[in-house]
Amino acid sequence: MTVYLVGAGPGDPGLLTLKAAELLGRADVVLHDRLVTRDVLSLVRSDALCIDVGKRPGTDTPGADRRQGEIGRLLVEHGRTSAVVVRLKGGDPFVFGRGAEEIEILEEAGIAWQVVPGVTSALGVLGAAGIPATYRGLASSVTVVTGQTRDSGAGSGLGHEPNWEALAHTGGTLVVLMGMASRAAIAAALLAAGRAPDTPVAVIQDGTTPAQRMVRTTLAGLPVVELGAPAVIVVGPVADLGRGVRRRSEDGSALTGS
Ligand SMILES: C[S@@+](CC[C@H](N)C(=O)[O-])C[C@H]1O[C@@H](n2cnc3c(N)ncnc32)[C@H](O)[C@@H]1O
Repeated sequence: MTVYLVGAGPGDPGLLTLKAAELLGRADVVLHDRLVTRDVLSLVRSDALCIDVGKRPGTDTPGADRRQGEIGRLLVEHGRTSAVVVRLKGGDPFVFGRGAEEIEILEEAGIAWQVVPGVTSALGVLGAAGIPATYRGLASSVTVVTGQTRDSGAGSGLGHEPNWEALAHTGGTLVVLMGMASRAAIAAALLAAGRAPDTPVAVIQDGTTPAQRMVRTTLAGLPVVELGAPAVIVVGPVADLGRGVRRRSEDGSALTGS
């Protein structure tokens, strides 16, 4: 008996790993987050017990902690009685997925577990939209942060983590997950820390799914973007790329279409 923590990727079932797809076809029980797409769930064996455990990306609030306790209880219950249990999480289970907490619960209960990594939305959604996370000469680092903090709660402004002041000065690409409710506060914090108002920003909602929508704007324009969760916010020069195949010339001096 094993509980598999499986990454479902950002939405497109074609982005599942072979191992994830094989486990979905074999699992007796699947416990999935709410925004795991129908297309991915269609790979679950038809006679398997498939439970929506109700977590929506971007709702990591105090109420969600209660739900997390219930998920732990279900994992232990089914982990003790079913041969193959899949805990299916959006993206990668270890990127803002609380995967490690669920493993601790399984460890305490003496239940065997394995992690099957997935394509994280923090990179996969950008890539599928044609936006490179790094680009020689433009962005030599990528930092992934949550826009929702323990202190902030959705839409109520920011607490003291992450350190936006420091992030404003890293110079690379900033990818914010769970940031839509706090987008105005995030923009204000980065601007106050000295990031230029015309810094390119891309917001991609429902990335890799047929419902995908993308808005290009600037840091100053981020607060008025009319998209909702789930979405990734990309801040930095790379957010202006991906409109077609574009390459930097060998000497790095110009971007050219090709
Ligand atoms: C709780 S975090 C989980 C991240 C997940 N473990 C991962 O690796 O992608 C949920 C956030 O991921 C982002 N997200 C997940 N799927 C997405 C998608 N298809 N398009 C855009 N953003 C997505 C959103 O920022 C959302 O609020």
